[in-house]
Amino acid sequence: MTDTALATSLSFPVEASTDPVTDSDRAAILADPGFGRHFSDHMAVATWTLDEGWHDDRIQPYGPITLDPAAAVLHYAQEIFEGLKAYRHADGSVWSFRPEQNAARMNRSARRLALPELPDGAFLQSLRQLVSTDQAWVPGLEESSLYLRPFMIASEKFLGVRPAHEVTYYVISSPVGPYFASGPAPVDIWLSRDYTRAAPGGTGAAKCGGNYAASLAAQQQATANGCAQVCFLDATEGRWVEELGGMNLFFVHADGTIVTPQLSGTILEGITRASVLTLAAESGHEVVERRVSIDEWAEGAASGAITEVFACGTAAVITPLGTLRDGDATITMGDGETAGEVTMALRQALVDIQYGRADDPHGWMTRLA
Ligand code: PLP
Ligand code: COI
Repeated sequence: MTDTALATSLSFPVEASTDPVTDSDRAAILADPGFGRHFSDHMAVATWTLDEGWHDDRIQPYGPITLDPAAAVLHYAQEIFEGLKAYRHADGSVWSFRPEQNAARMNRSARRLALPELPDGAFLQSLRQLVSTDQAWVPGLEESSLYLRPFMIASEKFLGVRPAHEVTYYVISSPVGPYFASGPAPVDIWLSRDYTRAAPGGTGAAKCGGNYAASLAAQQQATANGCAQVCFLDATEGRWVEELGGMNLFFVHADGTIVTPQLSGTILEGITRASVLTLAAESGHEVVERRVSIDEWAEGAASGAITEVFACGTAAVITPLGTLRDGDATITMGDGETAGEVTMALRQALVDIQYGRADDPHGWMTRLA
């Protein structure tokens, strides 16, 4: 459903909250935000209907939404979302990283989930209006940011299974610190042999809530085994490394080559992943997108051919992996405790651009406020 033709331009006019969080309460939240626990004073909303296209766009006070119990999203999970961050630079300005890539991915997800695409510019306008309104919520602390969560749901009241004729788009925002409490220290990962995340022809390359729901039983196993995340293998052979529940994977080889699993239709095309490929090539590494088997990982870590493994994503930034648990077997990267040098150098290069401490030769940063 690509009915953007019906859409007029969306400006997201602001209806300001009359009851914002007090300055002192907000300051206490920003001093220790955690991840995804607190939300700013406003949210962006727009409605789409088959007859009218996108309309009724606005920034309104943050708060609970009213949904009919028969709303299609509650039954058939017709839902997509995005995740990106707003970073405060030293001069007080607020910027986001490659937001046009999130807009493009949201529309790819929309096509896969039979949801309406957002017209050009509307995604960015919703972020700009929300972040300008709530700019006091962008933390100034090192490694902190305002996490932006655009999402779209089938809000039509209808129990028949077909693409909804009424859809609602929202953006909420949450001040965040590091995703992992350990910060950039290596995290341990659980290899799922019982569950897969995505199958060929399925929704793995889309950012839809159902993919995450399907990952939770595996995540429970990970947690029960003392691990922070799950690594999924391909659904066909159970042999090829795909990605973690919410992050892409990279392998650093002893000869300096950096390898990441190739996009296969079942892996989410991460914006951090694409950026790491660019940054690594620019710092002199050979970068390769190809299939990586779990045996190559195990043997490479044991022999020293693979020296570092890291996960990357908006929430996780670049996080080194310590140990991969495969049932009772363990695959340990390095000493399992020390973050690798290549990993940390790439991380530094990325966050320096995001926080405005380094030049931005690719024009990746977009000012929001
Ligand atoms: N893979 C999955 C399954 C994710 O949920 C995410 C997070 O968005 C990523 C990879 C990394 O994508 P990005 O770098 O665009 O945040
Ligand atoms: C993100 O990195 O933005 C995600 O959506 C992943 C999730 C684990 C928070």
